[in-house]
Amino acid sequence: MAKVIAFSNQKGGVGKTTTCVNLAAYTARAGKRVLVVDMDPQGNASSALGFFERKDKKSVYEVLVGDIEAAGAVKKTETEGLDIITSSGDLAGAELELAQVMIGRERVLDEKIEAVKEGYDFVFIDCPPSLGLLTVNSLAAADGVVVPIQCEYFALEGLSQMMNTIKLVKKFLRPAIEVEGVVITLYDGRAKLSKGVVGEIEKVFGDKVYLTKIPRNVRLAEAPSYGKPVSDYDPKCAGAQAYEKLAEEFLRRINK
Ligand SMILES: Nc1ncnc2c1ncn2[C@@H]1O[C@H](COP(=O)(O)OP(=O)(O)OP(=O)(O)O)[C@@H](O)[C@H]1O
Ligand SMILES: [Mg+2]
Repeated sequence: MAKVIAFSNQKGGVGKTTTCVNLAAYTARAGKRVLVVDMDPQGNASSALGFFERKDKKSVYEVLVGDIEAAGAVKKTETEGLDIITSSGDLAGAELELAQVMIGRERVLDEKIEAVKEGYDFVFIDCPPSLGLLTVNSLAAADGVVVPIQCEYFALEGLSQMMNTIKLVKKFLRPAIEVEGVVITLYDGRAKLSKGVVGEIEKVFGDKVYLTKIPRNVRLAEAPSYGKPVSDYDPKCAGAQAYEKLAEEFLRRINK
């Protein structure tokens, strides 16, 4: 039965999608079966894995508010062992449509993916940069949350709101949810500021912070435009090596 991990931080542009997609690719390369679910209307995880079509009618939108089963929306990526349920332009409307569901609107994703969990070791959910119903649905389906934090001044701003949301989800929707780990992204080991920020993050999250830090690396930013994870685009670059190491650390910690 798959462990479900949500990649979440309400702040935009901190590396949620980059981490979700590349960690998924290296986890699959380590022999695990991984399903990425793109819960962001921006569809960045979908395009990063080669699915650029925004009008597809077998996307996570139809799974959430239409009548197709999750299994009917699963697509294979070019990485062996890595599948995806893509986002589509319609997903932006799902937030409002879900809001009109009177009972159980926070649990729709959880219920829908239950049937496909058996076929995977991990389901990785890429969340949008907000704390709306799409994120709450993602968290309510998750056993663990990986929080990417950009290594910059004000890195921790807004995170207390996010932690509070996780607390509420734990209390009312998903008692088993835990913060699985914190990934420091866009890290510059040479900058004095970076070390200070890492210290601040570690003060809050302690040993939840992964030892592997993700450097700023332009290859990581280029790979999505080719529809490839960095493991296929440029496996030798520093960013690829960091995500490969992060996948090892992730698997070691989660013991799976
Ligand atoms: N380590 C990195 N080095 C260089 N560029 C990066 C790195 N990580 C992410 N980027 C780039 O920074 C931008 C934001 O990253 P990403 O899309 O992963 O963040 P996000 O948190 O998912 O954003 P959003 O909140 O919009 O969903 C992207 O253009 C991405 O390619
Ligand atoms: Mg994103």
